[in-house]
Amino acid sequence: MKILVVGSGGREHALAWKIAQSPLVTSVVCAPGNPGMAALGEVAAVAAVDVAGQVALAKAMGADLVVVGPDAAIAAGLSDAMDRAGIACFAPSAAAGRIESSKAFMKAFASRHGIPTAAFETVDDAASAKAALGRFAPPYVIKADGLAAGKGVIISPTLDEGRTAVDAIFGGQFGPAGARVVIEEFMAGEEVSLFALCDGAHAMAFGSAQDHKRAFDGDQGPNTGGMGAYAPAPAFSAALEEAAMEQIVEPAIRGLATEGAPYRGVVFAGLMLTNTGPRLVEFNARFGDPETQVLMMRLQSDLVPYLLACARGGLAALPPPLWRDEAVICVVLAARGYPGGPVAGSAITLPASGFGEGVVVFHAGTAIADGQLTAAGGRVLNVCARAPSLAEARARAYEAINQIVWPDGFHRRDIGWRALESGPLGE
Ligand code: AMP
Ligand code: GLY
Repeated sequence: MKILVVGSGGREHALAWKIAQSPLVTSVVCAPGNPGMAALGEVAAVAAVDVAGQVALAKAMGADLVVVGPDAAIAAGLSDAMDRAGIACFAPSAAAGRIESSKAFMKAFASRHGIPTAAFETVDDAASAKAALGRFAPPYVIKADGLAAGKGVIISPTLDEGRTAVDAIFGGQFGPAGARVVIEEFMAGEEVSLFALCDGAHAMAFGSAQDHKRAFDGDQGPNTGGMGAYAPAPAFSAALEEAAMEQIVEPAIRGLATEGAPYRGVVFAGLMLTNTGPRLVEFNARFGDPETQVLMMRLQSDLVPYLLACARGGLAALPPPLWRDEAVICVVLAARGYPGGPVAGSAITLPASGFGEGVVVFHAGTAIADGQLTAAGGRVLNVCARAPSLAEARARAYEAINQIVWPDGFHRRDIGWRALESGPLGE
């Protein structure tokens, strides 16, 4: 089989890495890919959101399956276009993808289907938003409706700051994504990312992980796309996973099917583990980044039959995936300045002798300039390690980071702290 992987981040590198290990696969093409993905197969310079370009590439290479990573490509209708071209595609339609691309849609949808989530109001102007704030208690959760690269949420401790946030969003802080705003009840608890595969009719739990969204140690600093992740998450028991599948994922899959937008692909349920059980923070219509890097290193089963079953149907006939009985951690190396304005173009040197046992380094925002590996994005490298315990996996990951020479990069030193209940690791 020939498989096209769409995207260029660490998530897509991890998917391509796992796909390339499948005995069913003869070649992997990544578009636009990155230097890490170039080591697995061919890369083609077609942007993820270039729908016509991706369809042409899939036809030209004779792709048996297209696997889409980023949400922007889903929202742009890439899955719909592949469908029209008769090419099997692992990604939901743009209509089903609205569970991620519009928070207002998602919240109203969750209410219609009795999915436990925070109480909310949707507003279209600053005056209504400020009036709505008065009907909630602090801290105030204020969200831009549209896609904002995981950064469109402001949590304000006071009403005054909440009003300032409202003005900033309607003033264009998140561009057109903030033309509509959702105000929500704050939910307290630990967050978990739960993944489920779907073929339009059937849903199957497909792993979970915990992510660190803030930029700096001690969960301080601005929200990012994710600075690190690990699995398994001790806070998320099998019983909680079952409850989340029954109360959150399955009603959503049934609801989308009855509303005429059957869901195919992966659903990423961002959950808050509250003292009344798991509640939905958000749905994403794609795999998480960096959660996927962790999932792919823990997955023992061949990934490809699952991706194919999502695209073509027949997921219910497959057994639940097998996971290695080991812990995996992923530490994100980001360019100084991320998530604001990351410094681009700095040189990175990886150890010539490679990395130790159980360590895999996925590329995200990297480029090769004059033969030199350089930073070309915010999140640049994902150092992942697998070991019998999380403590050992973490030690392996940080040892590997010490072998990378990149003065213009930074990373968190406390990935996994919730699970390990320990402080930041020293240099
Ligand atoms: P989202 O983009 O909706 O995932 O929100 C980004 C982050 O904001 C989440 O991962 C949570 O940490 C936080 N957040 C969003 N909504 C809520 C909420 N209703 N209560 C508490 N925290 C929230
Ligand atoms: N790591 C969170 C996300 O992919 O949205």
